[in-house]
Amino acid sequence: MDIKVSSGSIIKGNVVCSGAKNAVIPLLCASLLSKGKVMLRNVPRISDVFDICNILRYLDCKVIFKGHTMLIDNTNLKYKPLLIEECKKIRGSYYFIGVFLALFSKCEILLPGGCKIGSRPIDVHLQAFEDLGFKYIIEDDILTIFKTKVNEEASLVLTKKSVGASINTIFAGLRLNHYEIKNGLYEPEGLDVIHFLQKLGYRLTLKDEVIQYEKSKLDFKLIKHTVIPDRMEAMTYAVLGLLKGEVTVKRVNTKDLELPLRILKDAGYQISYTESEIYAKKSYGKEIEIKTDIYPGFPTDLQSIFGVLAINTIGKSRIEETVFEKRMQIYYDLKDSGVDCKITGNKAEITGTNKIHSKNYSACDLRHGAALLLLALVGDEEAIISNFDYVLRGYDDIVNRVKALGGKITIL
Ligand code: EPZ
Repeated sequence: MDIKVSSGSIIKGNVVCSGAKNAVIPLLCASLLSKGKVMLRNVPRISDVFDICNILRYLDCKVIFKGHTMLIDNTNLKYKPLLIEECKKIRGSYYFIGVFLALFSKCEILLPGGCKIGSRPIDVHLQAFEDLGFKYIIEDDILTIFKTKVNEEASLVLTKKSVGASINTIFAGLRLNHYEIKNGLYEPEGLDVIHFLQKLGYRLTLKDEVIQYEKSKLDFKLIKHTVIPDRMEAMTYAVLGLLKGEVTVKRVNTKDLELPLRILKDAGYQISYTESEIYAKKSYGKEIEIKTDIYPGFPTDLQSIFGVLAINTIGKSRIEETVFEKRMQIYYDLKDSGVDCKITGNKAEITGTNKIHSKNYSACDLRHGAALLLLALVGDEEAIISNFDYVLRGYDDIVNRVKALGGKITIL
């Protein structure tokens, strides 16, 4: 899908934050672990969610998705090899592996896809599965995992800090009587998944970054859970306000955005916030220094967004990406748009400017596409963004919501 963005929009208004993409994907997979029905509220209407729903329906689950509420009934769930297209399209399909190991002690699945922001191996996941007593084979892009010995207990140390591997390992060990997991990485989205599992009746505790699990009896009951707000979406709209007008973002957990908000405040931007709202007004700030890191460090998913904000700084800002190997595309787009921007490997130095010569752009991943939208909105002429489908993977109804704020966007 391509969109055309016209210049000269005045952005002003409110936007209500959607549910978090990176929480709802594992939550949907984890719904198979319930002994009854699951009702999820605040579910974002994004393509990754629709893809996961297709996989749930393929597994004979009943899925009713109305507005932002979803009811999942896994009564007729049965084991099937996960060799369907949706598993290859997105990264989060790999959460079905841990869930299947918990339910069936086996899994056959197409290796995951997702944004091309680096090699994105799953070696940390696979090592953890082996530590839990599983064996795996990878042939022609199909991962087959099976149980070789029955471990009742396990004590694991994940080989690297990984959001996905931490959640997947929690899932995969749920058949054991007891396990502990060290060196995990639990961002707000991962904590939301742990809270959900606790609601299902799984006896999980997280203390000093160590997960402890004791097997317990699950009840058959309807579980209701509200997905936490998407902190990346919230900050994307707040940066739009800082660049282009005035935006109030509602229903946010600002405690999950402590560092990005602190950086903006310290740089002197016109931004204020309560526990659940952010108000951002067009303003200029001092230069910013950002180095992405694991939570609660600066989130890699906001790096491209802040790269565009850097054009509104007085002076030179410096941004360094340390989590993924290939997430610097936006800085080449800034250079092409007339911004003084030096790129050295995973580091960029951006000089603030108020002159953006719009170009035609091509999105190469979800957050890059969102950053391009911000760049096109501040540009001095009309711009076309191709491959905008990437953005629809993680931003609920973004075209209509930006248009409602005053953005001039046409879907081509
Ligand atoms: C999750 O990716 C998110 N995706 C990403 O969001 C997010 O950027 C990332 O966490 C960090 O916050 C989903 O939740 C679906 P990692 P994930 O495992 O789980 C390497 C977005 O835009 N690694 O913490 O894949 C990996 O290559 C997306 O919403 C291994 O080497 O992140 C990366 O360099 C993009 N081996 C680093 O660790 C492994 O087995 C962090 O990856 C796993 C990861």
